[in-house]
Amino acid sequence: MSQPPLSLETDLQALQDAGKEAIAQVENLDNLEKIRLDYLGKKGKVSKVLGGMGKLPPADRPRIGALANQVKDALQIALEARKAALQDAEIQAMLEAETLDVTMPGVFKSQGRVHPINSIIDQITEIFVGLGYTVASGPEIESDYYNFEALNFLPDHPARDMQDTLYLPNGDLMRTHTSNIQIRYMKEHEPPCRVLATGRCYRRDTVDATHAAVFHQIEFFAIDKGITFTDLRGTIRAFIDALFGDIPIRFRPSFFPFTEPSAEVDVEWNGRWLEVLGCGMIDPNVLEAVGYDPEVYTGFAAGLGVERLAMVQHEIDDIRRLYSSDLRFLKQF
Ligand code: DAH
Repeated sequence: MSQPPLSLETDLQALQDAGKEAIAQVENLDNLEKIRLDYLGKKGKVSKVLGGMGKLPPADRPRIGALANQVKDALQIALEARKAALQDAEIQAMLEAETLDVTMPGVFKSQGRVHPINSIIDQITEIFVGLGYTVASGPEIESDYYNFEALNFLPDHPARDMQDTLYLPNGDLMRTHTSNIQIRYMKEHEPPCRVLATGRCYRRDTVDATHAAVFHQIEFFAIDKGITFTDLRGTIRAFIDALFGDIPIRFRPSFFPFTEPSAEVDVEWNGRWLEVLGCGMIDPNVLEAVGYDPEVYTGFAAGLGVERLAMVQHEIDDIRRLYSSDLRFLKQF
């Protein structure tokens, strides 16, 4: 019987012990894989030891071969067990890191709000769109023609006065009302029309509690065959109902160059009559200026100050509050 190849046996045994030790110590999956390659890979330590098998007497080979397989199996089992343990630990760590503390106070995000001016414009737009009106717009820098002349203002009408109107060096002006949109719209469209327009207007007013140099108006007008003052009244009643509810309103005779007859409408609010809009039947001269036949078509128009309405709606005492950007004020709406 030949001498047992002691060195190979002890080498294999030592490899198994060292491998198990290394596997037990490893802290992560990447290093575990390195150990696997180091011991069991094609050029790993176990393969190297087995490389010496060729020199063994044939009688010893089966025993050493079996031992080598045992070592491989043992290391494989240890690797797998460690892999499972490390994967578990990884999942556990992830779960811990992602744990939500539902008792923690939330992060406060301050929320924006719709400005009362925009909010009332939105409400009114919705009311008129519901009545079948189309929304139109026009420029804030305007010519004398659209702002005054086509609206039947005579050349020496006091509203053209430098006191009221902001003129630009080239003779154009900042529109003083949204009525310019009537002219622009009618010139581009054939009757019948039902139109709502809103926008910024400018006047050289001294700013105080009820006057601003920049303010907003809403304009609406309807033109068709057979439109009468009764249609105007009914439309305004329906509009006030939708915005304020069933409150008393009254029509007072008034004058505007572009309407005939003209009226102003007051609403009763907190025991007082407050003027909210101007209106009337569109003057035949205006219809003629845009090429509509006043013998065939009639129409009504109205214009209202948005700030005024917002002040009524929210009981605001000073128009300047609407523009002060004071969040304590704006947060109330
Ligand atoms: N444009 C007028 C103003 O600025 C308001 C107005 C009155 C508009 C009567 C109209 C209207 O369309 O018919 O004071």
